[in-house]
Amino acid sequence: MPTRTSGNFYGIGIGPGDPELLTLKALRILKEVDVIFVPKAGIKEESMALEIVQPIINGKKIVEKVFPMIKDTEKLQEFWLDAARAIKKELSEGRDVAFLTIGDSLTYSTYVYLLQCLRDMIPEEKIHTIPGITSFNAAASLVNLPLAQRDERLAVIPVSDNVEELRPILEGFDTVVLMKVAKRLDKVIELLEEMGLAETSVFASHVGLEDAYVTRNISALKGSGRGYMSVIIVKRPPK
Ligand SMILES: C[S@@+](CC[C@H](N)C(=O)[O-])C[C@H]1O[C@@H](n2cnc3c(N)ncnc32)[C@H](O)[C@@H]1O
Repeated sequence: MPTRTSGNFYGIGIGPGDPELLTLKALRILKEVDVIFVPKAGIKEESMALEIVQPIINGKKIVEKVFPMIKDTEKLQEFWLDAARAIKKELSEGRDVAFLTIGDSLTYSTYVYLLQCLRDMIPEEKIHTIPGITSFNAAASLVNLPLAQRDERLAVIPVSDNVEELRPILEGFDTVVLMKVAKRLDKVIELLEEMGLAETSVFASHVGLEDAYVTRNISALKGSGRGYMSVIIVKRPPK
C-alpha cells in the first residue's frame, strides 16, 4: 500500500443543531476523517458543535480548541495560529482532519480565521470547505417563511451596539435577517415596533436544538433575555 504523505483538511458546516440537518457530504467526511477539531468558547465549556455530531463520531480522535469570545483580533490570532499548527501537524503525519463549524462554514463563522492561517501553511488543494445549512435558513423553514422571492431584496446583518444603524437597512430591503442579536434584543424590538415591523417579524432561538424557540410575537420578548443564539427575520409588510 502506498504511504500517504499528507492528509486532507475539511472545514465542515454542520448546520444549526439538528443532526438531521447535516449534509450527506458532511456526514460521510465526518465518518471518514481520522481527527476532528472542535471549537469551544472556554476550557470549562462544552463544545456545542461536538455535542451535535457526537452520536455519529464515536471513537474518533477529538481535539478541542478554545477560541475565547474576545474582540482583540491580535490575541485571537494566536489561538487560531495555534489551532492551524496543530492541524498541520496531523496532516503532515498523513491523517485527514475535519474542523467543525456551526451553520454554514463561510457565513459569519470564525472558521474563516483558521482558513486564512491554513492557507499560509498548506497547499490550497488540500483544503476543502463543506457548506452547511445556516441558522437563518433553518429558522425560516421552521415557520414556512419565504426569505425572498421574485425581485425581493434580502439582507443579512450582524447587529451592532448601535441599533440605529439598522434603520436604513430595514427601510431598504424586503427581508432583513438579523444575526448576533444577543443582549441587544430589547433595543431591536423597540426599533422594529417604532418602524411598524414588529408584527411581521419572526424570532427564532436555539434552532435545531432541544430548547428551540420560535415566535411571531416579538414584542412579548422584551426583558426575556432570549437574544443569545437567536436570529430575527424581519419582513416588510405587504403594500
Ligand atoms: C458566529 S455566527 C455563526 C453563524 C453560522 N455560521 C450560520 O451559518 O448560521 C453566530 C450567530 O449565528 C446565529 N445562530 C447560530 N446558530 C444558531 C441557532 N441554532 N439558532 C439561532 N441562531 C443561531 C446567531 O445569530 C448567532 O449569534
